[in-house]
Amino acid sequence: MNLIISILFLIVCTVVGSQFTSTGFPTKVLSSNSPWNIPIGNNPSVEPLSTVMVNKIKNSLAQEGLSTDFQLHYNKWTAPIHLVNTSLPVNRIKIFQPQGEGYHETVDPLGLKVITNLPVLTSFNPDPMADGHMIVFDTNLKVFHEFSRFKWVNSTTAEATRYDTFSYNNNGTYPALVPGSRWWMKGVRGSGAPFIAGLIRYDEIQRGELDHAIAFAGPINRQKSFSSSSWSYELCTPVSCRTDGWVIGNDTVMEGQRIQLNPSYNINSLPPKARLIAQALQTYGGYMVDNSGDFGIYFENLITSNPSGTSLWESQYGSDLSTLYNIPITQFRILTCSNIIAK
Ligand SMILES: *[C@@H]1O[C@H](CO)[C@@H](O)[C@H](O)[C@H]1NC(C)=O
Ligand SMILES: *[C@@H]1O[C@H](CO)[C@@H](O)[C@H](O)[C@H]1NC(C)=O
Ligand SMILES: *[C@@H]1O[C@H](CO)[C@@H](O)[C@H](O)[C@H]1NC(C)=O
Ligand SMILES: *[C@@H]1O[C@H](CO)[C@@H](O)[C@H](O)[C@H]1NC(C)=O
Repeated sequence: MNLIISILFLIVCTVVGSQFTSTGFPTKVLSSNSPWNIPIGNNPSVEPLSTVMVNKIKNSLAQEGLSTDFQLHYNKWTAPIHLVNTSLPVNRIKIFQPQGEGYHETVDPLGLKVITNLPVLTSFNPDPMADGHMIVFDTNLKVFHEFSRFKWVNSTTAEATRYDTFSYNNNGTYPALVPGSRWWMKGVRGSGAPFIAGLIRYDEIQRGELDHAIAFAGPINRQKSFSSSSWSYELCTPVSCRTDGWVIGNDTVMEGQRIQLNPSYNINSLPPKARLIAQALQTYGGYMVDNSGDFGIYFENLITSNPSGTSLWESQYGSDLSTLYNIPITQFRILTCSNIIAK
């Protein structure tokens, strides 16, 4: 009898609860109509300047003496994901904005520059580099909390330059450059996109399921096409709602713009986990969401204290995933942005 009940319970859990892993984290992050969860489809429109854009990235890296290989952000300049269960009593903290700027209206409507009552355990730490990104997921309320430049002051107070919160099934997009709003405070990355969007997670690589677009960083993201343009910024919506692109030229990639691994690039000889990622890069591609000193993609940070230490990514999948460095960046192409916003 107990066995039958257990089996029934298991079946019900598998059918009803399959949106969440045993840790309470969603198997699919963001809604199914989010641009992060929609495949590219056949014969997308490719930017007329795509080849020029990718070569310009490659040349700019070479000129700076930097690697022109495809890069993986996994132990620094990315973000860890911490889980907290608020159906139990948990540590609550206050964050303040150290630059004296109010947080975005959606999280700090009164412009107090302070946000209270956030469920952050004292054991949670951000990415070790200057951007200090950190993702906290509340498995009880199913909401994300994201921070940039997070720094502990004491066990109940921290500073953070940006903060955002949203439900796990939100579509991950925000209105761009909204006049009259502090739009530059929205979201925790340069493009305003959620950090969890497009982040490659350990649990999905373990399961062998990677069904979404991937977050990209680039070294020469666009500020605007021409110095004569009457506006200051241009960006590609809906993925991006602001931009920290700084290069002028119609041969640069906009933040929010979609990138695809050439679908005819042969990925069959790659080992299983690298092939899973390469397949996602062909099927879903990715979106340019931040500046970086390289051209690469983001993995969740599994080691937050010592960036030169060994992470699970290296010990479990290092020899497999390191084959991704061999994909020539000239095998990526830039897709046409159908909705540019300028301001
Ligand atoms: C959160 O804690 C509650 C109360 O102990 C428990 O019932 C629930 O299963 C926990 N959720 C997760 C995802 O661990
Ligand atoms: C933590 O730091 C804040 C800001 O400096 C201060 O107001 C608060 O009293 C401190 N709390 C504790 C428990 O030390
Ligand atoms: C995302 O959701 C918001 C609010 O729910 C909606 O206004 C917007 O049109 C949606 N955007 C996309 C790209 O689905
Ligand atoms: C890009 O800008 C150059 C001038 O700087 C112009 O000649 C060219 O037509 C533009 N190309 C596209 C595709 O807009």
